Amino acid sequence: MADDKGQMMWGGRFAATPSAIMEEINASLDIDRRMAEEDVAGSRAHADMLAEMGILSVADNEAIQAGLDQVLEEMRAGTFPFRRELEDIHMNVEARLKELIGEPAGRLHTARSRNDQVITDFRLWTRRALDETGQLVAGLQAALVRRADEHTATVMPGFTHLQTAQPVTLGHHLLAYVEMLERDRSRLHDCAVRLNECPLGAAALAGTGFPIDRDMTAEALGFARPMANSLDAVSARDFALEALASLSIAATHLSRLAEEIVLWTSPQFGFARLSDQWSTGSSIMPQKRNPDAAELIRAKASLITGQYAALQGAIKALPLAYAKDLQDDKRLTFDAFDTFNLCVRAMTGMIETISFKPDVMRAAAAKGFSTATDLADWLVRELGMPFRDAHHVTGRIVARAEAEGIDIADLPLKEMQAVHGAITEEVFSVLSVEASAASRISYGATSPVRVAEQVAQWKQRLRVE
Ligand code: ARG
Repeated sequence: MADDKGQMMWGGRFAATPSAIMEEINASLDIDRRMAEEDVAGSRAHADMLAEMGILSVADNEAIQAGLDQVLEEMRAGTFPFRRELEDIHMNVEARLKELIGEPAGRLHTARSRNDQVITDFRLWTRRALDETGQLVAGLQAALVRRADEHTATVMPGFTHLQTAQPVTLGHHLLAYVEMLERDRSRLHDCAVRLNECPLGAAALAGTGFPIDRDMTAEALGFARPMANSLDAVSARDFALEALASLSIAATHLSRLAEEIVLWTSPQFGFARLSDQWSTGSSIMPQKRNPDAAELIRAKASLITGQYAALQGAIKALPLAYAKDLQDDKRLTFDAFDTFNLCVRAMTGMIETISFKPDVMRAAAAKGFSTATDLADWLVRELGMPFRDAHHVTGRIVARAEAEGIDIADLPLKEMQAVHGAITEEVFSVLSVEASAASRISYGATSPVRVAEQVAQWKQRLRVE
């Protein structure tokens, strides 16, 4: 920051000012101005503590607090004079404070360094972001639960290897994502708990000789406790890495759901149709309804994983304590949260308004011999056959049906009896897709009864009406 002699705030030992390119590469204001409110909060807590400990006079603290009030007001009104040449948000706030209140502003930085200041701000920012993102994820879960509630008994093909496997219910499928998102939310929450220690007072790296009270600043800023090691306090970024890793995993889940939307809305599947709000057209092919948002989510998940990898790379070989490499932690983290939040919002909108096609899903579920396992299970249950033998008999029945181009449920009884004489008419009761899905009543299984129970539990947990 330039003083009245054209020097930076730290310029006492320098005879010349930095080159323009040096300023350019060094400046972080465009990024860290997003922590303006956190920076003011940190300064308030610090100044109050300095006054309480008699390091700062009461009058100076009053002037500082009043000045910071005004700084905040200017920021909220959009009139704060941000100046890139002052490098970062911390020096912008302090410089403005000096313009507003004069000399006492220079006492605010006693027993503090930008190293503990920046990381205090960043932890505060990330704590709030984790909470906001958690709420957005809960909103998506609620949307999925509502749609699952409509479709507890809608039968669709369940896939393994993207080959028809067994009939499942759409509600069950949607609730699988609710489970994933719940773990995502819990990762975000864990991360917020672990990050909630206060680095303020670590100063540059070694702590300070002033008689500060770190418990007081920690408490004022809502942290559980001060960080116990000053070197760790100014250099640790694992909280951000953890946040990005959690976002990356959560984005991966969004991407899987996005991929299913792409598949399901293709004319070849036809399982679902995106609303007009969430579809785009083609400039040449008038028939197209493209799932662009889903495709973008699929791609953006990789960006977030990249941001995690970039931060991990920046930290990996960094000796203690602070180094400027750490400045770009915020760019990566802010971008990852922005991208992720946008993706969750888009996914929530798509899920809320997508229309599912139960008839198409049911017809697809009935293809591909999806109830072959039910036939084998019937042979085990009713004829006492070992499962391996039942599997073999069923395989031969499937081969017959396939040769005739029909489903096993449509195969005449005598054809089945040609494979195994003891099969009776009764077998057909288990061969419909509805019967198949309804029969799977084990805990966590796909039957409408179990899915309705799960829906009811989720509605309660997520307070869904
Ligand atoms: N803008 C800097 C950052 O984000 C603040 C800390 C500067 N510290 C220093 N020793 N130069 O990392």
